[in-house]
Amino acid sequence: MSQSIRVYGPASVSNVTCGFDVLGFAIEKPGDIILAELSEKPGARIKKIIGCDTLPINPLENVASVAAQSLLDHVDPTIGIDLTIYKNIKPGSGIGSSASSAVAATFAVNQLIGVPIKNTFDLVPFAMQGEQIASGAFHADNVAPALLGGFIIVRSNDPLDVIQLGTPPDLYAVVIHPDVQIKTSESRKLLPVLVPLKDVVTQTGNLAGLVAGLLQHDYDLIGRSMHDIIIEPAREGTIPGFKELKKAALDAGALGAGISGSGPSVFALCKGETSAQKVLDEMKSAYGNFNINYDAYISAINKKGTIEILD
Ligand code: HSE
Repeated sequence: MSQSIRVYGPASVSNVTCGFDVLGFAIEKPGDIILAELSEKPGARIKKIIGCDTLPINPLENVASVAAQSLLDHVDPTIGIDLTIYKNIKPGSGIGSSASSAVAATFAVNQLIGVPIKNTFDLVPFAMQGEQIASGAFHADNVAPALLGGFIIVRSNDPLDVIQLGTPPDLYAVVIHPDVQIKTSESRKLLPVLVPLKDVVTQTGNLAGLVAGLLQHDYDLIGRSMHDIIIEPAREGTIPGFKELKKAALDAGALGAGISGSGPSVFALCKGETSAQKVLDEMKSAYGNFNINYDAYISAINKKGTIEILD
């Protein structure tokens, strides 16, 4: 049995406008890398975190070790694992930073101890244990796409029911990540507790249309459906320049655009790489007027999810 393994867990975009807590997809870059090493001392520990000095080393507080430990508890608590985290996604970015570490740690431990969990779908609950520490909620809409790749519907978190959708071949994502931090737990406090029935009907129609568009590879239907009339209005004020970024994306030909997860990242979906590049350029140009640093990503939809890094 190998003594160590390196695993890549990609970033992800959850909600995808109208699919709050039930829809998400993975992107190709950025992503966290986990080095997992077998140890003689039982339990999962954090050996080192590279690229971020604000995350906890305490194994009870770190998403990666909590996820890894939950798998060890299920399979064999006498096994010991040391985790090194190469943190490439900033915490509080809205592109599944904690999910990326959690899925990479879970996948790495499963591989390292001889793949006791045969179906990657069945690793989702363990990664969710880690994600819950960071977000304060038990939801799989970042973890499941980051682990499995492609578009994912979370029909139910408890009991878990996750459905993998096909991905239209020409679909590309653009993400702008403004350099401000938004905690998911804080952002969830902004959301309405009660929603008018007519808004639920509109939102449900859009979500149904978006899922049908993804299944039928109908890009126009995807675009027509990407509207969020419930969550976005409650959160958009926390993101500097959100309206400008969204308008720039739509004016440049994006199918749709919105908040990635709980923000501050803003994403757009586009048909084709050329369109995505134009959308990216226009979003960057719109953000030039704001005195805020940002990272920008352009990516095909990631269909592989979490993978072992082979040297
Ligand atoms: N669906 C969650 C939310 C994702 O919007 O609060 C957070 O990453």
